[in-house]
Amino acid sequence: MKLSCSPLPPSEIAADWLVLLLPEGFPLEGELAQINQSLGGLLDRLRSQQDFQGKLGELCQVPAPAGIAPQRLLLAGLGPVEALSVRSLNRTLQTAARTITGKPTRQVALSLRAVQSANLAPAALVQLAVTAFELGCEGQDLFRAEKKRHPLEELVLLVPADANSAELNAAAATGQILGESVNLARRLVNLPAEDIYPESFANQAVALASGAGIHCEVLDQQALEAEKMGSLLAVARGSGRPPRVVILEYRGAPGAGHKVLGLVGKGVTFDSGGLSLKPTDGMLTMKCDMAGAASVLAAVVAISRLKLPVNVIGMVGLVENMTGGRAMKLGDVLRSRRGVTIEVQNTDAEGRLVLADVLDLALSRGVDYLVDLATLTGACVVALGEDVVGAMSNNQAWCDRVLAAAQAVGEDTWQLPMFDHYADLIKSDVADIRNVGGRWGGAITAAKFLERFVGDKPWVHLDIAGPAFAAADKPHREGGGTGVMVRTLVELARTM
Ligand code: BES
Ligand code: MN
Ligand code: ZN
Repeated sequence: MKLSCSPLPPSEIAADWLVLLLPEGFPLEGELAQINQSLGGLLDRLRSQQDFQGKLGELCQVPAPAGIAPQRLLLAGLGPVEALSVRSLNRTLQTAARTITGKPTRQVALSLRAVQSANLAPAALVQLAVTAFELGCEGQDLFRAEKKRHPLEELVLLVPADANSAELNAAAATGQILGESVNLARRLVNLPAEDIYPESFANQAVALASGAGIHCEVLDQQALEAEKMGSLLAVARGSGRPPRVVILEYRGAPGAGHKVLGLVGKGVTFDSGGLSLKPTDGMLTMKCDMAGAASVLAAVVAISRLKLPVNVIGMVGLVENMTGGRAMKLGDVLRSRRGVTIEVQNTDAEGRLVLADVLDLALSRGVDYLVDLATLTGACVVALGEDVVGAMSNNQAWCDRVLAAAQAVGEDTWQLPMFDHYADLIKSDVADIRNVGGRWGGAITAAKFLERFVGDKPWVHLDIAGPAFAAADKPHREGGGTGVMVRTLVELARTM
């Protein structure tokens, strides 16, 4: 998608669509009065006849009045100005974008002039708008002949004549990198497990890293055995596809004294459940079980493309959880890289087995702060619903920083408690711990399991089982992979 900023009045832009973002009640003063005038009083009429009032999520499509350059108008309501948030803006922008990309379109002009908000600078608005339009251009119909989404050729941002154009251009470029990165994660999740398996995911990582100035190392089966990653390897044993661990290193802050942010992703490229086999309904979307890995890869690529002055190590554990003749069995005792022994009581609790060894490997590579992302438990979806990320941590100050980053980019995240007594639920009679904690508090007992492998480093576990994959389309987003937390991780790196 080509991008440009223009100081022209909206009526003079030759585009397929002119999109106007309007707050509720939109007082026709200043810039907006001029726009209304150039549209022959159209905004005034729509408002007084109650055809469009600017309520949150309200959309109105109108053929452009004669005598102006754009072909059609799309008015998008923002709701009350006082209640404007990054979340509501994202929703409105994404809804507008998806409305337009439902059929082929060349050029879209987007006016941001009517949005005056105390807590959102024009540059921030431009960045959000570009990201939203990038997301709206891409669907999950990778294999459909007849596409549901049609990428735009060009987005023209209509900005105030007195705006700082260098700053706005930079914001547009940032917005584009973020949108493309979220789309990258979405695409990886949407590809079937026959296309994305440990080896092919690793190949994608290598290719992306080499174009982005990221050092990339791939550990194959032999290297994982040499690292004694018995917990991860046990999960991989049931599959004909050998496992991989990918280590991505980005050094944006060279020299001593800089802390290293470690990002760890669960990359189960397909989760059949193993011998504790999932029923069809539960297995249907399990190509999404590598969403944590996809978001980590996409975030590191974005951080590098944005040249953020931070040091990041991204690590993803890639396995397929299958039922082959050598699959792990109930009652097996695994020896993790850290030496902690694990009794397997359910082969479908495989994500924690993978993460245990990768978190431990991350510690040995010298990370100072850890965040892991995983589609880890159905219990987290029961607790928080499909659209909210669960956060669990061993360090409140670090958790607060991660939550603040999520809030800043509008990704809904909620913390769950980590009281000591939850750890009692994963005690085993035959090994140090077992891999399930019984019926209740499943999201937290999974986190308590992971906590055994992070030493004393500040760590936040993000359970993305709900938000990583959307069952159906909504007006503001496509069904399928969502690229959840890519923007949060980039924001976190930006604030380091
Ligand atoms: N990948 C699943 C979790 C999941 C569920 C992700 C729904 C996305 C949507 C995970 O490996 C799993 O199977 N967890 C089990 C754990 C249980 C056996 C303790 C679960 O949640 O049922
Ligand atoms: Mn599972
Ligand atoms: Zn899983």
